[in-house]
Amino acid sequence: MNVLITGGAGFIGSHVVRLFVENYPEYHIYNLDNLTYAGNLENLKDIERQSNYTFLKADITDETHINELFETYKFERVIHLAAESHVDRSITDPLAFVKTNVIGTMILLNSFKKLWSNNYEGKLFYHVSTDEVYGTLGVTGLFTENTSYDPNSPYSASKASSDHFVRAYGETYGIPYVITNCSNNYGQNQFPEKLIPLFINNILEEKPLPVYGDGNYTRDWLYVQDHAKAIDLVFHKCALGETYNIGGFNEWKNIDLVKLLCQQMDEKLNKPKGTSEQLITFVKDRPGHDLRYAIDASKINKELGWKPSVTFEEGLSKTIDWYLNNDEWLNHVTSGEYQTYYQTQYN
Ligand code: NAD
Ligand code: DAU
Repeated sequence: MNVLITGGAGFIGSHVVRLFVENYPEYHIYNLDNLTYAGNLENLKDIERQSNYTFLKADITDETHINELFETYKFERVIHLAAESHVDRSITDPLAFVKTNVIGTMILLNSFKKLWSNNYEGKLFYHVSTDEVYGTLGVTGLFTENTSYDPNSPYSASKASSDHFVRAYGETYGIPYVITNCSNNYGQNQFPEKLIPLFINNILEEKPLPVYGDGNYTRDWLYVQDHAKAIDLVFHKCALGETYNIGGFNEWKNIDLVKLLCQQMDEKLNKPKGTSEQLITFVKDRPGHDLRYAIDASKINKELGWKPSVTFEEGLSKTIDWYLNNDEWLNHVTSGEYQTYYQTQYN
């Protein structure tokens, strides 16, 4: 089976590519990525020479190229992760998010339809989405698969739009699809613009830890390898045309999470207790900041038997260890463009 994974050089994509390459030697895995600032082939060094793996450098918004690749490689199943994924960047450059997340998804859908519309038997378009499409929760309640879409940021609006197009292509043209909406991921290889790796890097550099607003915003955190396992299960066992929510059953207020991170960093760096916490700095809030996300993952649990395997304390500790042991990776991604981004975002 020829499986196309888009965005496979990014954070979650690289874990999904590795899992599929290692666990399914009978599949050929094509990783399609145009290597934006967030894409990094160093994430896949350990598997790049496997015979069932091919990297394709391509932009999902390039219609001609994407059509050619579908014609050439006859991708039977697609796991679509490529996206602009950072909320703060979507606030400064929303159009980039529409281009990649909406138009890029449409182009993939069209190429898939063009190739297979005569017979969709055994084919699948798997769209990886986010819980942010549901908007924000108050202090209680959980997002279920039936929660109405109510996106608040340009990022979540673009992801919501792409979800709608996938579903519409299912209804209108009969494309076999599935969508998953997942909560906040963390783990190794995450680009240090997102909360956890940004704060790990700042602690290492003894820079302020910029907590937005009062820090009382809540997210549900899932270890990235547990997300990859859920994607594997959905890919093989899903009912077509369904949505599955994926979450960690693991809600944290940002400020509590940051304090736990500081504690673990102090221990690992042999610093006196409380050292890293002194770096916490409350800064101007993110516009349109969603108060709380929390996922009801009971559908995927009951129907497909998935549940997270890693506790947050354990996952966070493994994540920190990875960053401490991979300073070359961290130095590489925090040089160049990152410095300009950081100055603009935080000064
Ligand atoms: P990421 O930003 O780390 O990686 C995105 C990848 O997509 C990069 O490798 C990048 O080079 C590639 N890409 C971007 N634009 C492209 C284009 N035009 N053509 C080809 N490739 C392109 O993102 P991530 O955090 O790994 O997220 C992956 C997917 O999962 C996204 O669709 C995101 O919306 C979704 N998601 C992320 C999270 C999370 O917490 N990170 C949670 C739920 C869902
Ligand atoms: O919920 C899933 C989503 O999780 C994914 O779809 C997105 O791709 C992913 O980026 C993530 O979005 P968030 O906006 O929740 O993640 P981020 O790491 O940017 O922020 C987490 C929380 O921490 C959020 O409440 C904002 C806050 N924060 C973030 C940064 C970068 C800060 O307080 N300071 C910061 O510097």
